[in-house]
Amino acid sequence: MLDTMVKTKNVGAALAGLEVLHQPARGRFGSMAAYGPPGTGKTFFFEKLGMEEDYVYIRCKYIDTPRNLLTHVVRELGEEPVGVTGKLFNTAVEQLMQKPRTLIFDESDYIINKRFVEVVRDLNDIANTPIIIVGMDNLERSLKRFPHLYDRMRAVVKFNTFDVGEIKKLGKELCTSSLDESAIQFIHKSGSGKFRLTIDLFDLAQRLAKQNGLKEVTRDHLEAAYHKSKQKERMAS
Ligand SMILES: Nc1ncnc2c1ncn2[C@@H]1O[C@H](COP(=O)(O)OP(=O)(O)O)[C@@H](O)[C@H]1O
Ligand SMILES: [Mg+2]
Repeated sequence: MLDTMVKTKNVGAALAGLEVLHQPARGRFGSMAAYGPPGTGKTFFFEKLGMEEDYVYIRCKYIDTPRNLLTHVVRELGEEPVGVTGKLFNTAVEQLMQKPRTLIFDESDYIINKRFVEVVRDLNDIANTPIIIVGMDNLERSLKRFPHLYDRMRAVVKFNTFDVGEIKKLGKELCTSSLDESAIQFIHKSGSGKFRLTIDLFDLAQRLAKQNGLKEVTRDHLEAAYHKSKQKERMAS
């Protein structure tokens, strides 16, 4: 249904954060953190941003050591990653000085530890490059354990699950069939305010409207069909 980015409140908050991040203070760039529950659109937003010329997107993995991480960074900056950790670090700094880009570290929860924090802080200091750290709900708490990194966060953006009002707005934008108030409430509750489930429920509403020639889809229509589809899924697994 979707490949284009919907301008959710979270997207709006992230764009506002980027504006702040890209205003240097006395010539120095700081960092930004973005965090929130799964399914709220963090990866979708930052991966797309990473496709723009001035950004580099890196997905962290549980097994990443500073050396692995710098290998990804150097490769994404367009250089062949060779040498030990110190050499990789210098290559990354050289590349960033030649052509400044903002580094995005997604799924960083796995690797918020002293060594990662030092690498990020050094890249920020030495290359004067803005850095975005993206993670789950407890990211902010983890970052606070490292005040020398946390203190340089110019923006902290929280990605939230959708509230009822936003589901209503999204329904108008994304769902071709009309949804009454009870359907909106049902979608909010059953979709847990998360993107993927919400979109699935919009799809379901569209199918029901088409199959049954409905002018407006209600909770009753959705509930019965939703439970049936869940039952089918259970039987198939
Ligand atoms: N702003 C958006 N516009 C359109 N689709 C989105 C948007 N945000 C998220 N999605 C959809 O929701 C899915 C889950 O979002 P994701 O970015 O993986 O969440 P998170 O990283 O917060 O767990 C994405 O794969 C995408 O299909
Ligand atoms: Mg993600």
